Amino acid sequence: MSKILVTGGAGFIGSNFVHHLLANSDHTVTVIDAMTYAGIRASLDGLPSDRFELVEGDICDAPLVDKLVADADIVVHFAAESHNDNSLNDPSPFIQTNLVGTFTLLEAVRKHGKRFHHVSTDEVYGDLELDDPAKFTATTPYNPSSPYSASKAGSDLLVRAWVRSFGITATLSNCSNNYGPRQHVEKFIPRQITNVLCGIRPKLYGAGQNVRDWIHVDDHNSAVMEIIEKGRSGETYLIGADGEMNNKDVIEMILRLMGQPTDAYDHVNDRPGHDLRYAIDNSKLVDELGWQPKYQDFEQGLQATIDWYKENEDWWRPMKDATEAKYAKVGQ
Ligand code: NAD
Ligand code: DAU
Repeated sequence: MSKILVTGGAGFIGSNFVHHLLANSDHTVTVIDAMTYAGIRASLDGLPSDRFELVEGDICDAPLVDKLVADADIVVHFAAESHNDNSLNDPSPFIQTNLVGTFTLLEAVRKHGKRFHHVSTDEVYGDLELDDPAKFTATTPYNPSSPYSASKAGSDLLVRAWVRSFGITATLSNCSNNYGPRQHVEKFIPRQITNVLCGIRPKLYGAGQNVRDWIHVDDHNSAVMEIIEKGRSGETYLIGADGEMNNKDVIEMILRLMGQPTDAYDHVNDRPGHDLRYAIDNSKLVDELGWQPKYQDFEQGLQATIDWYKENEDWWRPMKDATEAKYAKVGQ
């Protein structure tokens, strides 16, 4: 039984991780979360109070981080500013949280000799051409496009440097696009599902040819658990489930599954610097750690996600209007 400190545990992936961990192990969990617009208290409802604690605080707060890391056995680091579009409007919180926050955690981990897992993104590798047979691997050169992905790339490099120079015990994972329950409605899939539920037409950036490599959030988290248990320190593991699909096809699938005409969406302004395609080669994770995804069928996982948003309007309704108002300002 371990004491696990989860940063950003009130966000999308972190909250699903905490629910899964507490339901399937005897571990105790402390979440540190600054409860930004993306930290949702309701995402942590129903957790066992004897094994779970939420500390509202900033990962850049060195004394607080030092105390929490000293108390923990393992630190799993999800906290970040995570949305590309926001990083184009105002990069500054991305630099602060993703770089300074990660640095603050690394210093505490170094001082107290604790195991660290850093959750990162495939976007650090830049993008691929649509017809390129290559996929990202752990040796693909870093080439990030947006302030978000550049700040995540910098945070990865900090972790690697702390392993090499200071000998901390840490692993890294770089995952592709997640979908599933409790994802903020600013993100592509929940935005379109909740648009349909609100009678708003879904919004496709540009022509919608951009490809993302979709993975269910539970599969991302099961891979993170495998890496924490069996991964080698200093190693980077890419997480993906062979789920490449372009945005136009995803929007049309959502409309079809929700009983709407498949052309009932709007083309809106494209994202500046929009990455064309992401694709993950997961063979290191599969061959070395024996990981397999549970959600092999994207359409089934998407249907389950649509059902979750239909059944949990109380969860997403409070954030919907403000999110759409923000997009309307930039013609998206
Ligand atoms: P999210 O935006 O839903 O959640 C981020 C959480 O971090 C929120 O609860 C927020 O309140 C918290 N947070 C932000 N700044 C903080 C600070 N300074 N101190 C403490 N907490 C802070 O993000 P997500 O989609 O759950 O992503 C989690 C992690 O996974 C991120 O590191 C992201 O880069 C990575 N990732 C995400 C995806 C994806 O598809 N969403 C894919 C690969 C990797
Ligand atoms: O690849 C992993 C990354 O996936 C994570 O690191 C990020 O945290 C996560 O947000 C996600 O980044 P993307 O920018 O790919 O995700 P987003 O949901 O914002 O957009 C997915 C695609 O859909 C992208 O090509 C832009 C497009 N899009 C997005 C929105 C919000 C639309 O066409 N319409 C929209 O309304």
